Amino acid sequence: MLIDTYGRVATDLRVSLTDRCNLRCTYCMPEEGLQWLAKPDLLTDDEIVRLIHLAVTELGVTEVRFTGGEPLLRPGLVGIVERCAALEPRPKMSLTTNGIGLKRTAAALKTAGLDRVNVSLDTLRPDVFKTLTRRDRHQDVLDGMAAAREAGLTPVKVNAVLMPGLNADEAPDLLSWAVEHDYELRFIEQMPLDAQHGWKREGMITAGDILASLRTRFTLTEEGEQARGSAPAERWIVDGGPHRVGVIASVTRPFCAACDRTRLTADGQVRTCLFATEETDLREALRSGAPDAEIARIWKLAMWGKKAGSGLDDPSFLQPERPMSAIGG
Ligand code: GTP
Ligand code: 5AD
Ligand code: SF4
Repeated sequence: MLIDTYGRVATDLRVSLTDRCNLRCTYCMPEEGLQWLAKPDLLTDDEIVRLIHLAVTELGVTEVRFTGGEPLLRPGLVGIVERCAALEPRPKMSLTTNGIGLKRTAAALKTAGLDRVNVSLDTLRPDVFKTLTRRDRHQDVLDGMAAAREAGLTPVKVNAVLMPGLNADEAPDLLSWAVEHDYELRFIEQMPLDAQHGWKREGMITAGDILASLRTRFTLTEEGEQARGSAPAERWIVDGGPHRVGVIASVTRPFCAACDRTRLTADGQVRTCLFATEETDLREALRSGAPDAEIARIWKLAMWGKKAGSGLDDPSFLQPERPMSAIGG
């Protein structure tokens, strides 16, 4: 079991498959991209499957999320999913993607055993999409989402980050559209995890702002804490149901006390939190021939160092060295 000193148990493993991405979202990375990890530093497909196997059979992990960067850029993704689906017990498996490439891969991912996908889409306006992501791929994302829904990778959840001066006024339009297309929309507060260190608390759009904007067009009823469990998203019932809208308010309404996550970066480091300032290396142990029991011991020990919270409200808060795209969102 991966338990920390506050008694929280990590059953949800987030695995970053690559730090690379084919978009350049302004809240994530600069136009020129980043210094990508070198191939030999990345865990191989076999190493990833071995660690997931260990997590599921020995450490109590029941859910696996593949992230990036952009996980669809990992050539071995379908094979990794297939091998994980054969594990006993079989973990629940999901993918968080920017949606480009889903049109091509959704059916194969479903066949391989993936359960569902979350797709990032911040705007319905192609021109704003181009400014925000610095790439002209809006239609590819919409097509990818539709393909995921058709392939049965459901519920398809949609993640939207609102940025002042760009898409800040789009919350009600995004929700109308999501309800119409049967996607579960969640708004994410912008977090200080961008490579450029450009985040400012004063400038960010808060959960309060988003809810006020939605309430100009919809009636929202709180779903309640019980339905939430350890999910980052607080949910509201839209106009009496059945649709829901979520808000992931990592900054203004942190949910760290219920956190059930452990993270693995593409280069084989355990992170106990998005905002952790330390990482624990599993790659070295893997490559020096350590047995499963030793790797499990290192992983458990790492979780023992998990902090109570993100520390965002501490005056001494320091943004993690690695950006979101390298940590795995
Ligand atoms: P599901 O609702 O089960 O699909 O999970 P999820 O909401 O965690 O999935 P997703 O990968 O789509 O993440 C949505 C947002 O939540 C992203 O911006 C993540 O960075 C953020 N998030 C995920 N895990 C954590 C966490 O442990 N802490 C914080 N603060 N944010 C998180
Ligand atoms: N703050 C909030 N969300 C972010 N994402 C990427 N960077 C940030 C940030 N700095 C979102 C992506 C994706 C999800 C995994 O995280 O848009 O939907
Ligand atoms: Fe790529 Fe995701 Fe970062 Fe956008 S937020 S640049 S889609 S890793």
